[in-house]
Amino acid sequence: MLTFDHVHFYYKKGHPILEDINFTIKAGEFVAIVGANGSGKSTVAKLMDGLLLPKKGTVKLQQLDTTNPNDLMKIHQQIGFVFQNPEDQFITTTVMDEVLFGLQNIRVPREAMRGRVDTALRAVQMEDFLEAMPHQLSGGQKQRVAIAAILAMQPQIIIFDEATSMLDPQGREQVLSIMHRLHNQGMTIIHITHHMDEVISAERILLIHEGHLQFDGDPLIFFETVPVLEYQLQLPFAVRLRKTLQLESPLTANWKEGIRSQWPIN
Ligand SMILES: Nc1ncnc2c1ncn2[C@@H]1O[C@H](COP(=O)(O)OP(=O)(O)OP(=O)(O)O)[C@@H](O)[C@H]1O
Ligand SMILES: [Mg+2]
Repeated sequence: MLTFDHVHFYYKKGHPILEDINFTIKAGEFVAIVGANGSGKSTVAKLMDGLLLPKKGTVKLQQLDTTNPNDLMKIHQQIGFVFQNPEDQFITTTVMDEVLFGLQNIRVPREAMRGRVDTALRAVQMEDFLEAMPHQLSGGQKQRVAIAAILAMQPQIIIFDEATSMLDPQGREQVLSIMHRLHNQGMTIIHITHHMDEVISAERILLIHEGHLQFDGDPLIFFETVPVLEYQLQLPFAVRLRKTLQLESPLTANWKEGIRSQWPIN
């Protein structure tokens, strides 16, 4: 359980970025965070992990508090980050070393390392690339290696901060499919994105706007009730199509299940 309790944050005093943010993300949820450029999504993500600390209020992972230095290491171990540009995340020269690197950092016993590397690479279907050089892989493959490096550390939560935004449609689909597979296995997934076609398959949407949590709820209700264009967001293709065809009936649970059942794509 990840809880924001009356969280306030600013980078520069007098210029609030987040004001009184409250939410709880339960273990195993798939949550999308949306909002315009500069609305504070990445700031929320960094607060979750204790990379940033609230100016007021608390951020807790179960009973662990990001403002308690003794808890911070445990929090870092339980939350993994995948960023927009996988290149920025690579440190070593082979795929295997890339996944091993994080394990050495958290002092996993040597005899357990290889098993963890193999399992993580298999989970993203990159097991045939052990000796490959990360920089020579395609964008989608790079991002899958970045995910494997996180998975090997066995976090409870993975935050994807625009992790699909630099990928072509096939790469995006593969990464999104991995996210849904991990979710189906019980992992908590937090997906920050500008692609509304990707958030419709989430269980819950958080909309950040002008420092506030403007919406927290079901994607179905979000796209039915929130004037998304006012928040510099688009409607998903499926919703636009419905509107173009001027279908009168409200969106239904069946329709939503139809969207969700597309994932994971194998
Ligand atoms: N290190 C920093 N120092 C000062 N201001 C910052 C810093 N990082 C972010 N900001 C500002 O805080 C606000 C929120 O930034 P943040 O990166 O959280 O937004 P975002 O929603 O992730 O945007 P994007 O969609 O462009 O990734 C922006 O106005 C940004 O300019
Ligand atoms: Mg951001």
